[in-house]
Amino acid sequence: MSKHWHLDYHTDHALLTLDVAGQSANVLSQEVLQELDQHLGELEDKPLKGLIIRSGKASGFIAGADVREFERITDPVRATELAQLGQQVCARLAGLPFPSVAVIHGFCLGGGLELALACTYRLAREDTATRLGLPEVRLGIHPGFAGSVRLPPLVGDLAALDMMLTGRTVSAREARRLGLVDEIVPERHLLHAAETFLKSGTPRRQAPWYRRLPGWKPLRTLVVRLFTPRVRRKAHPDHYPAPWRILDLWRDRATEEQEAQSLGEMLVSRSSRNLVHVFLLGEELKRVGRAQVHGVEHVHVIGAGVMGADIAMWAAHKGFRVSLQDQKPEILARAAKKAHGFFKRKLKEPRAVQEAMDRFMPDLEGHGLKRADLVIEAIVEKVGPKRELFRMVEQKVRPQTLLATNTSSIPLEEISETLKDPSRLVGLHFFNPVAQMQLVEIVRGAQSSEESLARARAFTGAIERLPLDVKSSPGFLVNRILMPYLIEAVKLVEEGVSLVTIDQAATEFGMPMGPIELADSVGLDICLSVAEELSEPLHMEVPDKLRELVRQGQLGRKSGQGFYRYNARGRRESPPPDKTAADIPITERLILRLLNEAMACLREGVVGDADAVDAGMVYGTGFAPFLGGPMSYIDSLGVTGISHSLHRLSQEYGPRFKPDAGWSQPELLMRRRRSSN
Ligand code: NAI
Repeated sequence: MSKHWHLDYHTDHALLTLDVAGQSANVLSQEVLQELDQHLGELEDKPLKGLIIRSGKASGFIAGADVREFERITDPVRATELAQLGQQVCARLAGLPFPSVAVIHGFCLGGGLELALACTYRLAREDTATRLGLPEVRLGIHPGFAGSVRLPPLVGDLAALDMMLTGRTVSAREARRLGLVDEIVPERHLLHAAETFLKSGTPRRQAPWYRRLPGWKPLRTLVVRLFTPRVRRKAHPDHYPAPWRILDLWRDRATEEQEAQSLGEMLVSRSSRNLVHVFLLGEELKRVGRAQVHGVEHVHVIGAGVMGADIAMWAAHKGFRVSLQDQKPEILARAAKKAHGFFKRKLKEPRAVQEAMDRFMPDLEGHGLKRADLVIEAIVEKVGPKRELFRMVEQKVRPQTLLATNTSSIPLEEISETLKDPSRLVGLHFFNPVAQMQLVEIVRGAQSSEESLARARAFTGAIERLPLDVKSSPGFLVNRILMPYLIEAVKLVEEGVSLVTIDQAATEFGMPMGPIELADSVGLDICLSVAEELSEPLHMEVPDKLRELVRQGQLGRKSGQGFYRYNARGRRESPPPDKTAADIPITERLILRLLNEAMACLREGVVGDADAVDAGMVYGTGFAPFLGGPMSYIDSLGVTGISHSLHRLSQEYGPRFKPDAGWSQPELLMRRRRSSN
């Protein structure tokens, strides 16, 4: 008896349906692979004309290998064995004495696609939900069930390298164009088409010769040279070795055995372990979002500036009806133009673009308030205007309407003072740019009700962002941890270290951009107001340089000049790095201030546990994912070493480096949400 697979015999062929027990999506655990192996053993001796493999889940075909199993493997030999098991099962499938066909709908990823690659044919359901890809590189590994061997001859070498190196998924249509699937078929004809293929005697597909030409030995080194700058832009070889390994395996025409050996090494590498940790943190936040109900159809956003316009655009993109209010029609016109450009880029088809624009309603008078299920405020970062706005809003909306503020730093208890029912106000703190940053902090004010918070989390999940619960304390989690780091960077500027030198130190550490460029991108006025809001509670000095730039109207990228100067196309003009800062521990000063503040947040309970700090900083700021987030980084360095370094820096540079009391409470780091599940 099989737990996960159902085998049915039809007149001349067999149908294997995967429906992994107790899961909403199919994943290939060892158990699932072993059961498949047994079924294949039974089938190979039968006088059949073919085998159809499909999924019994609505969510899709197979989402990949079971990532949770990766975490438990610490030995490269075990990891190699896992890959070998997958390879053996795929080889058995490929070696059946009759043809096989994978019928694919929804997600077909990683090991799932590798399984489909082992079939003679692949059919995909013709709709937008069908996505195929090999995203292993995003987890710091590469295909391990012979995908790196089977994909290039099927789709051609350049397309295969592109898929493996970027980890991007392709639609059913693109998969057909690439030759990754043999045909795309509407749902109702899928099984019939599969049966027809089994009978057809069509040979297994192969990419035409010119697409296989780049794999010709004399050309391979050249191709690798061509891909190298692209890979280098995205992945520092010391931080993210996986794409480099993919290039090596391809250049050397690696065998299945070599693929498995290499996967074994990669799976237990620091980079992969941390990327898996980060991935599972994201999955956990998604689960939180899915577990609750939002009851939102219409969203009303007030303030169409940098944030409000983006929030409105994103919510409309994700299917919500949105009205967007501001004080001036030209601001709304600018927001609508931006949204139109965004929908065109994302959706491409004119009808889908039009439908998204129909959901996006500029609303100068605020008519949308009456119909709104959720109001999101994103006006200037000042408590007076926000309070006044919410007083007015409460008079116009229905009693069940959820109210949310996008404030970066103002305590919710202060904003809600003018509300008759303050329990309906929560914080929905988005990050800039909304379309890229996945995190949303769900800010719990002392007055926020559980129901309001649950709805806010569910709405965040519904727009495919990650909801992270934080306490309404100054700066919440992410800005609070980021601010000392940004301020330290400004202090370095005041000491005469060049902008580029500071930013380079941070990017070499693994940050997606340096602190100075980040401050310029967020807007120096926003940085200043957050810094001022935090300066008193955190005993933090606001650097004069920041005040001076804001006073002069130099607000960063948006005004064409901040720390850096920007040309008319918004491109940064880079002054050269200097060599005089060699004796200043730039990286250490920046990162240790960040880690010290992260520890303080954990100690004060701004979030529930160390995992939440990691999730917040990786998904909210892009903090070096290969390090797994600040808390995982602290784990790897050791608490004692860090607090010693902080002591040393506090003697040299002053009390702002004084180690937080949390460093002497090791149990704080032990509290992890995922491991306690
Ligand atoms: P912004 O200055 O770009 O936009 C504010 C908009 O609100 C302006 O278009 C203004 O005309 C409009 N506005 C002001 N008072 C209004 C009123 N009474 N009714 C209707 N519209 C009004 O500001 P930005 O950067 O979008 O920030 C908005 C909020 O989002 C602030 O609370 C800020 O702290 C927060 N935030 C900002 C982030 C950023 O990176 N810029 C990130 C996360 C949160």
